[in-house]
Amino acid sequence: MVRSDLHCLAKREGGNTTPMPVITCIEDLRRLYKRRVPKMFYDYAESGSWSESTFRANVRDFEALRLHQRVAVNMDNRSIAGEMVGQPVAMPVALAPVGLTGMQWADGEILAARAAEQFGVPFILSTMSICSIEDVASHTSKPFWFQLYVMRDRDFIGRLIDRARAAECSALVLTLDLQILGQRHKDLKNGLSTPPRPTLRNLLDLATKPSWCIGMLGTSRRQFGNIVGHASGVENLTSLSQWSAQQLDPTLDWDDVAWIKDRWGGKLILKGILSAEDARLAVRSGADAIVVSNHGGRQLDGAPSSIAALPEIIAAVGADIEVWLDGGIRSGQDVFKALALGARGTLIGRAFVYGLGAMGEAGVSKCLELIANELDLTMAFCGLRNLDSISAEAIWPPDRL
Ligand code: GLV
Repeated sequence: MVRSDLHCLAKREGGNTTPMPVITCIEDLRRLYKRRVPKMFYDYAESGSWSESTFRANVRDFEALRLHQRVAVNMDNRSIAGEMVGQPVAMPVALAPVGLTGMQWADGEILAARAAEQFGVPFILSTMSICSIEDVASHTSKPFWFQLYVMRDRDFIGRLIDRARAAECSALVLTLDLQILGQRHKDLKNGLSTPPRPTLRNLLDLATKPSWCIGMLGTSRRQFGNIVGHASGVENLTSLSQWSAQQLDPTLDWDDVAWIKDRWGGKLILKGILSAEDARLAVRSGADAIVVSNHGGRQLDGAPSSIAALPEIIAAVGADIEVWLDGGIRSGQDVFKALALGARGTLIGRAFVYGLGAMGEAGVSKCLELIANELDLTMAFCGLRNLDSISAEAIWPPDRL
């Protein structure tokens, strides 16, 4: 059944009428996702830490920005293609590393990586993925990127970096803002685990999510594939909180960044920068790009939205390093606004997860198509034809609102 707030087309298949929702925006994907995926995984993605004020601000602050329309400008021959760390991209939007993606939909990381490859944008595999680095590599044909969390077991980290290199990952994304895990109330209340425990509450919820269950019964990928059986003593890891308490290294500092950079030897992206001071340290570390990010509002609640933090960071280091942004992007218009304020790339996390949970690989492709189309049309309405011509002039001055 499809909720009345989604427009529907009736598609006839063998005499049956299968309602097919017409997806016109990322919000449509979110609604479908909510209906199809177990509550604990929906809640895992759709939450921030503590009061969720930063989680909400990420979206709200994008909405508050107004655009500068231009007319009677030749809008033919537009292009949204660009580069991220020297690699060509169909649009400057990478799929962010999202833990537990393979619990949102069976084999989720493989499906999302394939959709990204097909579309021509980078896919970033999380350390906390369900499908392992090797598994994703063997089901894709172009290099993806790998995201690293630093754990106490440095031998394991060294081997993880080596595994990413052996799998021909073409960039390493080092997350700096998760040395400890922010508290997300819903995960604790839901008893988030992978796979879900067979409690009465979970079983009742699963009974309403048949396609998800069928997918999960048909795959063997239900554990943290990069960790279980690879990190010493980790044979049965079922929850993020268990993992973070046991494994995450709270001592991570810039010396560790130098060690990781050296061990990796390739393109390095530092994710989780929210202050100009840290951005300058990131430039000094020799990284290739930084991601202005508050981890989707999942870590320090009360931190500014990513888009609010961006201008100060651009002013500090925009000429010295590629500055990207994630957090709150739910449309191609948001991508456009981030680029206008100086970002040279963006990452989407929840937006692609909505697509994955709604329609599997096709949903991720749909998400990318929607964002590309919105970015392209927004550029045109602002009288611009390529990424290089997007500047702060495209944002209506807030003091004239
Ligand atoms: C991990 O990246 C999380 O935010 O849960």
